[in-house]
Amino acid sequence: MSPQTANHMRLDGKVAVITGGAQGVGLGIAQEFVDYGATVIIADINEETLKRAGAALGPKVTTVVVDVTDRAPRRRVAPGPGPEEDPSSTSR
Ligand SMILES: NC(=O)c1ccc[n+]([C@@H]2O[C@H](COP(=O)([O-])OP(=O)(O)OC[C@H]3O[C@@H](n4cnc5c(N)ncnc54)[C@H](O)[C@@H]3O)[C@@H](O)[C@H]2O)c1
Repeated sequence: MSPQTANHMRLDGKVAVITGGAQGVGLGIAQEFVDYGATVIIADINEETLKRAGAALGPKVTTVVVDVTDRAPRRRVAPGPGPEEDPSSTSR
């Protein structure tokens, strides 16, 4: 289904933070979210690939260099408990 026809799936007004989104699976997800109308923040450790991703995906994308294994900078991007602190999380 194309982003134009799937109105019930539109992501306008939503903000997605995608970690590891500068390449590979994460970049593909970022592209889909942009195509469906979301504003996207890509957080990745690799500054070079991050720059290329930001340039390729356009103005609805903000990039931030973050090592997601480091709690303090990760909290600036996505405040709240990480998986290691959230008892309901299954990603431990
Ligand atoms: N590619 C596949 O077909 C596939 C299938 C199943 C599962 N996976 C899993 O999905 C994940 C991503 O796969 P991929 O192929 O997109 O990998 P990839 O190596 O192409 O991309 C990973 C991205 O994560 C970033 N990254 C790595 N460590 C980071 C850190 N500490 N903080 C922030 N960013 C970091 C890298 O810079 C890179 O941009 C992996 O865990 C992989 O095992 C991939």
